Amino acid sequence: MARRPKICVVGGGQFGLMHLRAFRQLEREGRCQFLALADINETLLEERRREFGMRTYADFAEMLEREQPDAVTIATPDHLHREIALHAINAGMHVLVEKPLEVTVEGCSQLVEAARAGKTLLQVDFHKRYDPYHAELCRLAREGKFGEIQYGYAWMEDRVEVPRDWLSAWAAESSPAWFLAVHMVDLFRWVAQTRGRRVYATGVRKKLPAIGVDTWDSISMSVEMEGDITFQCQASWILPEAFEAVVNQGIRVVGTDGIMEVDSQNRGAESCFASDDRMVTPNLGFFRETQDTAGQAVYGGYGIDAIADFADNVAFLMEGGKLTDLAGRYPDGVDGLETTKIVAAVHESLATGKLVEIA
Ligand SMILES: NC(=O)c1ccc[n+]([C@@H]2O[C@H](COP(=O)([O-])OP(=O)(O)OC[C@H]3O[C@@H](n4cnc5c(N)ncnc54)[C@H](O)[C@@H]3O)[C@@H](O)[C@H]2O)c1
Repeated sequence: MARRPKICVVGGGQFGLMHLRAFRQLEREGRCQFLALADINETLLEERRREFGMRTYADFAEMLEREQPDAVTIATPDHLHREIALHAINAGMHVLVEKPLEVTVEGCSQLVEAARAGKTLLQVDFHKRYDPYHAELCRLAREGKFGEIQYGYAWMEDRVEVPRDWLSAWAAESSPAWFLAVHMVDLFRWVAQTRGRRVYATGVRKKLPAIGVDTWDSISMSVEMEGDITFQCQASWILPEAFEAVVNQGIRVVGTDGIMEVDSQNRGAESCFASDDRMVTPNLGFFRETQDTAGQAVYGGYGIDAIADFADNVAFLMEGGKLTDLAGRYPDGVDGLETTKIVAAVHESLATGKLVEIA
């Protein structure tokens, strides 16, 4: 019988909820044992305990000590991944970290080294790779359909309530580049199989600071990559509340022999109801909820698939599989590091107004 990894989650906020859903479901399917959640917000912790029924802790270190899981997933704010990930890796646990892996190059390198030394799986939740349209984009690139890729362009934009209301506690510690563009930087790097060399970025801080959220409204970046490839990306989190979805996103890739464009948000379905105050374009590819014959919720979509992939990778290793067998099949620590190098350079360019070389 397949081994079922014992899993704990740290951080049960907006996105931690996806982890809880994924692991409850995987447990029902016999693919993991979901043990416990740690979160410093005790009110939230109680709410999540009532909904999902796992054990709860206010202190992540106590949870890991008592539960001794095989694997840990981390969905704390962007700037609070490092200490928790390092603690878990040093305890010999496999780790999935929400994107960005860490907001410093030095911190990412430390995590990559620790995982390498401990021979543990370090996976990053760059879930755009699990969107079937993006996976197809990558497959076509691997087949050589684009010829030589010359440039890419991507955009990712959130409605203003994300930094203003959802992330009010820590939006000032993040930015549209750390929170959003990292997805697209990783996606393009994965498709084009390249690394960043030089970065120039500009940005605006106006609308959000005016309402007390001290961060960038929007950031535009131009990244020169190895292999004479250019990637440009625009990210913002100031879209009006009337916009048709919480997130707007897409990517286009152009090479000597081909072009592909993906609207990663509007998948062709649109609705407008008197009970809503806007048109809606649901992205069921990301997340959907149906019910099984017993009336239990069944979750699907690439938001869930990326987390499930981690649990399956851990099970594979527990059954004797090798980390080297998984190489290139999931977003790993080095992908997290390479993406952070680019986004850290974006922030250096914003601060200095200069072109920044990536070491
Ligand atoms: N993969 C994606 O598409 C995606 C989408 C949204 C967010 N995220 C990422 O997920 C992470 C969490 O984002 P979010 O939107 O859920 O934020 P959030 O603020 O809703 O949740 C963060 C949670 O972490 C908890 N926390 C903070 N410090 C902690 C600690 N030391 N120990 C335990 N819990 C702690 C907070 O109490 C909070 O409940 C971020 O890194 C974010 O970028 C990823």
